[in-house]
Amino acid sequence: MSSKISAAITAIGGYVPDYVLSNAELEKLVDTNDEWIRTRTGISERRILKGAGLGTSDMIVPAVERLLKKRGIGAEEIDCIIVGTVTPDMVFPSTANIVCHKLGAVNAWGFDLAAACSGFLYSLTTGASLIESGRYKKVVVVGADKMSAIVDYSDRTTCIIFGDGAGAVLLEPNNNGYGVLDSILRSDGGGGHHLHMKAGGSLKPASIESVTNKEHFIYQEGQAVFKHAVRDMADVSFELIQRNNLGADDIAWLVPHQANKRIIDATANRIGLPAEKVMLNIQRYGNTTAGTIPLCLWDWEDKLNKGDNIVLAAFGGGFTWGATLIKWGY
Ligand code: UT7
Repeated sequence: MSSKISAAITAIGGYVPDYVLSNAELEKLVDTNDEWIRTRTGISERRILKGAGLGTSDMIVPAVERLLKKRGIGAEEIDCIIVGTVTPDMVFPSTANIVCHKLGAVNAWGFDLAAACSGFLYSLTTGASLIESGRYKKVVVVGADKMSAIVDYSDRTTCIIFGDGAGAVLLEPNNNGYGVLDSILRSDGGGGHHLHMKAGGSLKPASIESVTNKEHFIYQEGQAVFKHAVRDMADVSFELIQRNNLGADDIAWLVPHQANKRIIDATANRIGLPAEKVMLNIQRYGNTTAGTIPLCLWDWEDKLNKGDNIVLAAFGGGFTWGATLIKWGY
């Protein structure tokens, strides 16, 4: 037992909507084909939150409820909820506020954290710091996005990639060295012009012109983002493993952001991990932005063992990227 408090993940919950958007259905919307999508991205289908009046919070609430049930605690025990997202229900109030209310988390405060596809990693490090400070005992960290709200389904270069989903983890103090051990987080605002949403913020508020020009959708220069993602996600994962004196044999799992199978393969190769140690669910969910990493943990939960060293890695809009090392605690 050490005196240092670490932030251990003690439960996971996830949620994906029922509606399956297949490659075959996309073939009817844009000039694309199943073979191109599968070979260039690894995606076969993604989930879409259909129905009016439903936002990102409507996926987060069931994900957190599953987590609470598993841990056997009530929402009123939560101290803080951090929501990594770029598709909040509204510009304000924060989705964290909305989620606290819907859950009945009456003793919690919270906030949204916008770091695009790195949203979960940024939020996890932030949440871990709250636990490590000793001031908070139960922090829920969420990664969730309703990407279908900002995808242009006439743009074949983006609509094939993204899907909707939410994942959440509970962080609690641990004195035995389990939990979040180390993190390298980076950002480069100089890359923002390659991947962003042009309007809807204070710089360019919504107008008839912005709607007509389709500026409330994702704008992505795929090749430029791909180039940076392949290099930076691999570099930071390699650096993290090195500085913790670990080798490939010491790593049980790589949990990569699910943007493109080719980016994931490059990262796994760089740190010398075989495919069977790499979590991959991009074929079923596509790129759920901040949702990908916690959704992987949720899908793989019963394969994780206490003491496993797990590397989480992400790259996304901003640019933002990073890697986090955790020791699985249950
Ligand atoms: O998660 C946040 C960070 N985002 C990422 O990490 C995404 C990174 N980028 C990518 O994953 C890839 O760049 C894409 C999947 C977006 C695109 O793949 P690519 O291999 O970079 O394709 P490309 O843009 O170089 O296009 C190759 C060809 C082009 O045709 P020509 O000019 O060679 O005739 C495109 O017009 O593929 C064409 N193309 C398509 N064809 C069929 C582009 N999109 C499609 C499509 N179906 N959906």
